[in-house]
Amino acid sequence: MKRMGVLGLGTMGSGIAQAAAESGFEVVGVEVSGALLEKGRKRVEAGIERRVNSGRMDSDGAAAVLSRIVYSTSTSDFSDCGVVVEAVFEEESVKSEALKSISAAVSESAVVASNTSSISITRLSGSVSHPERFIGMHFFNPVPVMKLLEVVRGYLTSDETASKAMETGRRMGKEVVSVADYPGFVSNRVLMPMINEAAFALMEGVASRDDIDRVMKLGMNHPMGPLELADFIGVDVCLDILKVLYEGFRDPKYRPCPLLVNMVNAGRIGRKSGEGFYTY
Ligand SMILES: NC(=O)c1ccc[n+]([C@@H]2O[C@H](COP(=O)([O-])OP(=O)(O)OC[C@H]3O[C@@H](n4cnc5c(N)ncnc54)[C@H](O)[C@@H]3O)[C@@H](O)[C@H]2O)c1
Repeated sequence: MKRMGVLGLGTMGSGIAQAAAESGFEVVGVEVSGALLEKGRKRVEAGIERRVNSGRMDSDGAAAVLSRIVYSTSTSDFSDCGVVVEAVFEEESVKSEALKSISAAVSESAVVASNTSSISITRLSGSVSHPERFIGMHFFNPVPVMKLLEVVRGYLTSDETASKAMETGRRMGKEVVSVADYPGFVSNRVLMPMINEAAFALMEGVASRDDIDRVMKLGMNHPMGPLELADFIGVDVCLDILKVLYEGFRDPKYRPCPLLVNMVNAGRIGRKSGEGFYTY
């Protein structure tokens, strides 16, 4: 388990590649095209530069980290990776194709992992040739900073694969939590209903936006209020995950708040659109 592959070098994949290289892994980063690969490389390099600028890494350390990462547009370069983490778009068809391609490239002993935040690991395991060697490794954004790794065991994941994934996470300096494959895992199953309830409280006029966030910050010691957090995550992403919970459990307690639906339809999806619950 010396070499890690990362497919997709977007927000999460670039963070995973950086964190892995910083903890001593050799990393193979793969993107779909040369242009996207170049963007991915810049994201990784910017992350490492931030470490240097904040004084947490010196320039020799940064050079060593950079030298451990190679870039490619072909999954065949995953052939000697002990673990490959898929971090492509959160769309089942895209993930399914990506996993087939990883699966065809890796060795017989490699662990294949998905960083999905909401798709069932057991369902995705239909796209790999060895479901017992497939698992969820749910990192959090920004990966080099956030301590948590949720390791999600699919129905067919073997004990050996689970221990390899957990060991990989620990080597990356993460606190690893093992969870079973049910909608939302633990993180989003607990977080999203809170955000949804905050949206209901706002919609019903229970309190103002600022007061709802203030209650959770000052009363519960949360660093960010739930509405501010929804903007940070993306209101569209929150709505998609709530739909996964609602459809996965068929339980009305996960019914997405109509205000979230309206906001997404209006394009007010949070920080990335310049406006959500707050204006940026
Ligand atoms: N952003 C978050 O806060 C967060 C947190 C936890 C988990 N996740 C999960 O991580 C995954 C990635 O999310 P993201 O926010 O990094 O998305 P993103 O859009 O920033 O990055 C996705 C990257 O995948 C690349 N890609 C798409 N198809 C590909 C393919 N076939 N081969 C290679 N590269 C491909 C894209 O070019 C893009 O760079 C999703 O499953 C998401 O649910 C996201």
